[in-house]
This record gives sequence, structure tokens and C-alpha cells, in this order.
Amino acid sequence: MRFTVAIDGPAASGKGTIGRALAARFGFAHLDTGLLYRAVGAKVRDGAEAVAAAEGLQLADLERGDLRSGAAGQAASEVAAMPAVRAALVQFQRDVARRCGGAVLDGRDIGTVICPEAEVKLFVTASDAARAHRRWLELSAAGDPRGEAEILADLRARDARDKARADAPLSAAADALLLDTTELTIDAAVERAVRAVEEQFGQGRA
Ligand code: CDP
Repeated sequence: MRFTVAIDGPAASGKGTIGRALAARFGFAHLDTGLLYRAVGAKVRDGAEAVAAAEGLQLADLERGDLRSGAAGQAASEVAAMPAVRAALVQFQRDVARRCGGAVLDGRDIGTVICPEAEVKLFVTASDAARAHRRWLELSAAGDPRGEAEILADLRARDARDKARADAPLSAAADALLLDTTELTIDAAVERAVRAVEEQFGQGRA
């Protein structure tokens, strides 16, 4: 059985949380595609050339402990604007998407470029303030000393770069379900996403 859930949206909108919950609920694999770009960005910060880093990316590279930092996020969005880096990562993502047993992929271009044939597409958003607050909670718990205002500026810079790039910019697929999580609890947001999957997947098998 092949079944793909494509989740896109801006930074800290809740797509990763929703993706993980859907994967657990339906027994699907989950790929946070942002980690691929974060891992390439981290290698570039270590001195590697971007395209070579993307072409040589190994699963073990996704296990690095520093990939969630603000610096890794900025480095990710810089390498993500390079078409050759994106091209080097396409096949890996498509292979996960069409694996047997179902898959959830979250990112920026999953419903538009990587899996335009996905059975379910979600575009997850939240206000800038809500996203900055969530990211501040995560990063401050991990020891990042920056305040919410600085993290908000960082998210906005990354969103602007992600939307403006020529290749695979952040945008909702025409047939994506829009999910604004600003006023939703995690459980409520997940419940809406579960319903969207059940409508396609069939209640009996869920
Ligand atoms: O977790 P957060 O939403 O902050 O970011 P992420 O999903 O880990 O993605 C980090 C960066 O990678 C984004 O700002 C994008 O520039 C890039 N990215 C992308 O271009 N395409 C994807 N499918 C996923 C991430």
C-alpha cells in the first residue's frame, strides 16, 4: 500500500508535530525534510561544498545533535535556495514518499514539487507571533539565550528567503487543505489532520 501525506508550511507552524502524530496514528513512516537541508547547511558551515554535501548525504548525517539550532536553520535556508542542492535531494524524498506502508513528509515543497500526487496535502500556518513563541519555547529549553523578538526576526528572514527563491518556493498546493494552528491546541490541530487523512485513507483501515 502506498499512501503519501504531504505537509508544508512556514517555520514553526506545527507541521512537524502534526506529521509525527499522523505517522504514529496510521503507522506511516515520517520524514522531516527540513533535516536534510539542515544537515547540508551544517556540513557547509563545517567547510564542505554545498552540492557535494547534498550528493553525499547519509542517514547518519541526520542524527547530528546541532541540527535544530537557529544557526542550522539559517544555514539550511541558504543552501535550500540552490537548485542543485534541491535536485540532489529529490530522489531520496520520493523514495520515502512512495515506500510501502505509507509515509508523511513535511517541508516546504512536498505537495507542490516532491509529491504532487500525494493522497493528502496539508498547508499548516500560524501567526508570526505564535510561531515565534513556540520556537522560543523549544530553543530556550535547549539553552539558546535569544529572546522572542530575535527569534521572530530570524523566522521572518527565513520565511522571506523560502518564499522568494526561484526554485520550489514555499507555497500551498492548489489542492492543499489549509490548517491555521494559531488558536488550536496540538490535539485539536492533529485531530483535524487525522480527519483529512481518514477521508482519503478509509476509516476502516485507520
Ligand atoms: O522546523 P522549521 O520549520 O523551522 O524548519 P525546517 O523544516 O527544519 O527547514 C529548515 C529550512 O530548510 C527551511 O527554512 C527551508 O529553507 C529549508 N527547507 C526547504 O527548502 N524545503 C523543504 N522541503 C524543507 C526545508
